[in-house]
Amino acid sequence: MGRKKSATAVAKDESASSGVGLLVFTTVVGVGAGVGLYFWNRLKRRKASPQSRRCSKGVAMTHEQLDVLEGYKSKCTMSKDQLNALVDDFLRRMNEGLRSEGQMLKQLPSYVERMPNGEEAGEFLAIDLGGTNVRVVKVVLEDRKVKEVVAHEDAIPKALMRGTTKGLFDFIAKQVKLFMARHSARPTASGTKVPIGFTFSYPMKQTGIKNGELICWTKGFDIKDTLGKDLVGLLEASMREQEVEGEVFAILNDTVGTLAASRFADQDTQLGVILGTGSNAAYIESKGNISKLSAGGSDGGRMIVNIEWGNFKSDHLPYLAEDREIDEGTPNRGSQHYEKMISGMYLGEMARRACLRASREANLFGGTQRRRLEKPWSFPTSLVSEIDGLGSGRLPQVKKALSKALDILEASVSDGCAHFVTEVCRLIGDRSATLAAAGVAAIYRYLTQSGQVALDQRFVVAVDGGLFEHYPRYKDRMDKTFGDLLGGQAKRVELVHSPDGSGIGSAVIAAAAATSR
Ligand code: BGC
Repeated sequence: MGRKKSATAVAKDESASSGVGLLVFTTVVGVGAGVGLYFWNRLKRRKASPQSRRCSKGVAMTHEQLDVLEGYKSKCTMSKDQLNALVDDFLRRMNEGLRSEGQMLKQLPSYVERMPNGEEAGEFLAIDLGGTNVRVVKVVLEDRKVKEVVAHEDAIPKALMRGTTKGLFDFIAKQVKLFMARHSARPTASGTKVPIGFTFSYPMKQTGIKNGELICWTKGFDIKDTLGKDLVGLLEASMREQEVEGEVFAILNDTVGTLAASRFADQDTQLGVILGTGSNAAYIESKGNISKLSAGGSDGGRMIVNIEWGNFKSDHLPYLAEDREIDEGTPNRGSQHYEKMISGMYLGEMARRACLRASREANLFGGTQRRRLEKPWSFPTSLVSEIDGLGSGRLPQVKKALSKALDILEASVSDGCAHFVTEVCRLIGDRSATLAAAGVAAIYRYLTQSGQVALDQRFVVAVDGGLFEHYPRYKDRMDKTFGDLLGGQAKRVELVHSPDGSGIGSAVIAAAAATSR
């Protein structure tokens, strides 16, 4: 009984439910119509091209183009919190690398234990195997000065980068032989050999100043049979075969050389950084902190450590889809993520992929022009640098540069297209400099927190490499990030360009090794 409803109650319920039904119906229809109208208008705006344009810095672009650009902006721009989280991760990885082998940051002992003090003297040859060139440098050190530097460089043929170990080392020995003949670099006394410092700019495991074994190749090199080999032995064997009268006194990473060269002239140098085809840093560490050093870590001395920062990875890195695509196409897939976001080897390819995406998703370049962009590695980093330097205020010059470098019709590059490319280049340059500065800031924090560098001390960072030297406003961008991360302490961090640092440093270290024999 109690469950039965009266006729009036039922009638009320029915009218209430039909009222609700009507409301729901009207709402659904209303919302549906609203959503439909929104998309219809959006579609109409996008189809009718003149009306579908919005402005970015006074340049008309389509909604699609702006959407793609905004996407890049929001992914590349890092907040202070994100930067700080990245620095924390970097510090954690530095500590792991000091404790044991095989970590993400390799923290490789260089066995350079006597810091250069300006007393080093003599005539040396430096052989510098970099990412794109072999450079032979004659360096004369005298009276606490670098008295003479004569250098010659040759591009490493692409085929050799993926050929055989012997092919590569024979090529290097040939360059040394030619250099010695051209610049009359000869042994000073009979029965002696020209002392050589060998700058080998790839991760290597060292057990002494004169030996190193390759751990892995980077920067596009892929010669399987070099892994684990004694690199000095390989070079000396090729030199012997070609009758080059030289003796290797030291093997070192380019970051170690850059640090040593700058330290020779300025005792406040704490860090050597390379921002070129590849990227990396080395710093001076108390041996007691390098707990993985099996012996000799407890004598209270110091040693230069090659961080191999290029292999840093973190969830706080501002990844783009292009980073993953680039990584997929490299011989060292899965490694060197940080390097691939920073260094000169990859910035052009990043810009190409971003333009290609915009051309597919937002009709950026016309169809014919797009085909030019489809060729991998066809967008040189020098073009990113040139366009970023011109900026959005000089679009006619940007169009010229694009048309010349990519062989596309200048008339087919619209203002919107030139503006898009300029903005993308700026973002790629900003991201590279911001990340490089975050690495330096992390090392600064590590050294001050561990009490190895005093807070009121100058912290000189010696930098070598084409990216730092030629990319517009690269130093300013790094300085800005130091301000964001280090506040008032940022004024202690001084970035100093150290031209030919890796070559001169090689000589300085070879000199120190020669006198301590
Ligand atoms: C290498 C480092 C080197 C850096 C700069 C990286 O690819 O792994 O050893 O210092 O490039 O040349």
